[in-house]
Amino acid sequence: MNSSSLTALPAWQALKAHAAALAGQHMRELFAADPDRFARLSFSFGPVRADYSKNRVTLETISLLAELARVRGVEEGRAAMFAGARINTTENRAVLHVALRNREERPMMVDGVDVMPEVRATRARLRTFSDDVRQGRWRGATGKVLRHIVNIGIGGSHLGPMFVADAMKDLQSPEMTVAFVSNPDRAQLDDALAKIDPAETLFIICSKTFTTAETTLNADAARAWLTARLGETAVAKHFAAVSTNVEAAKTFGIHPDAVFPMWDWVGGRYSVWSAIGLSVILVCGYDAFDQLLAGAEAMDRHFETASLEQNLPVILALIGVWYADFFDAPAVAVMPYDYRLKLFPFHLQQLDMESNGKGVTKEGAKVETQTGPIIFGGGGADSQHSFFQLLHQSPRLIPCDFIIALKGADGAGPSRDLLMANCLAQTEALLKGRTAADLASTPESLRPHREFTGNRPSNTLLLDELTPYVLGMLIALYEHKVFVQGLIWGVNSFDQWGVELGKELAKSLMPALRDKPAAAEGLLKARDSSTAGLALAYLQAKAQQ
Ligand code: F6P
Repeated sequence: MNSSSLTALPAWQALKAHAAALAGQHMRELFAADPDRFARLSFSFGPVRADYSKNRVTLETISLLAELARVRGVEEGRAAMFAGARINTTENRAVLHVALRNREERPMMVDGVDVMPEVRATRARLRTFSDDVRQGRWRGATGKVLRHIVNIGIGGSHLGPMFVADAMKDLQSPEMTVAFVSNPDRAQLDDALAKIDPAETLFIICSKTFTTAETTLNADAARAWLTARLGETAVAKHFAAVSTNVEAAKTFGIHPDAVFPMWDWVGGRYSVWSAIGLSVILVCGYDAFDQLLAGAEAMDRHFETASLEQNLPVILALIGVWYADFFDAPAVAVMPYDYRLKLFPFHLQQLDMESNGKGVTKEGAKVETQTGPIIFGGGGADSQHSFFQLLHQSPRLIPCDFIIALKGADGAGPSRDLLMANCLAQTEALLKGRTAADLASTPESLRPHREFTGNRPSNTLLLDELTPYVLGMLIALYEHKVFVQGLIWGVNSFDQWGVELGKELAKSLMPALRDKPAAAEGLLKARDSSTAGLALAYLQAKAQQ
């Protein structure tokens, strides 16, 4: 890894000059100048076609960006990850989520030890356990079949499985339900439990650490709800857990056969491929989950072996760096047009922003450039009727990712036609815009309002069909994209120290918030007047309840 100044690199300077040269060019001109632009700047890998031609790039841009990636050690970083090196330096951990979808006999090593035997053994246990629950061999305390799954977790122990379960909803067993509870606001747990029979409910406590405050609170509340109705001994039949902290899960009272391990080389936001996917496995069956892994594995092989210029995650990463650093683009908007992918932006928010929202390099020096962008988005059709106005006409440049499958719930039927028309039209409008000349018949006073600058970039991912396999490819594509960007920026994409300070301060506030206002005043003395004032307002309201 090259740790010298990023912006001083000749490759960076070459990009800067190239950006200045391209600045005056509208994408309309780039398309007009090259009838083969789409063919040249799009890429198919199996059932995924990526069109990146609607970007402010030329082939030269891609090759200059690839050169930057090369000198920043992307190839070495990629090899180090697959080799199980401790690339998460601040936590001294390997980063080996790719082992979780390694379905070949290939060994994956951490410190000279092959992790695959344990991974395979856990997969086998997941298959057995999920089959037993689904087929009624593992029943609840009263003998009823367990058909309501409630996943309790937060962050990566919530967003990944919730997104994947929703994306694979068509494969869910019609007899089963699944709910996801992350928020300590009791309202969420109450909603999940409102209509379900405790005798038919299985809770899964997902927590890598088993110490996360929100998850612990919800787990205790779920346990109290269950035992009030079925008695203390029911815990062993109605709870499962996934954690690196296997002992804590057992101490909670969970039956050892329902406790599944995780490993410190799996980051929370990369953990859906592990037993954290248990809720998905229970409602969709293990075979569907295996297909998810197979799709991710295919993307892993592509990422690992393809040259930088022919590598889908790398290309998307390069384009992202291009806008973040050479066009000052603050954000990326992600719009899946498939309803089943509507939760993808939430998963991506953690994946991207927790990974690359960093202010220092791996060596601890202040970064010289922008790093990870703000990620936002939502279902394409709905988003068109809310925030697309800003994408089209605000002075801000917001690069967009559009995602759509060629077939939907009604095949290539009328609903797909409308979605496809809208998806393509939006990318076209962003590209072309509308000039004053196009508005000849519009009253002059309205023309500025109806003009669109265009020249606004987008990628379009066309998926053959939203199968578990394709879904696996899609998620892995973005994981590797984020990793490559982190390598270019020189940050550690696998730690998340930025979430710690808030956690610590919340912990230190708790004693005051549990105390009487008079006593709390003393405890709050050292805090700023805003925090203390708001805390006291809360305590006074609480005292009056
Ligand atoms: O607070 C952030 C975080 O550490 C995430 O990285 C993680 O996915 C989440 O909390 C939940 O952590 P755990 O799985 O240990 O409960």
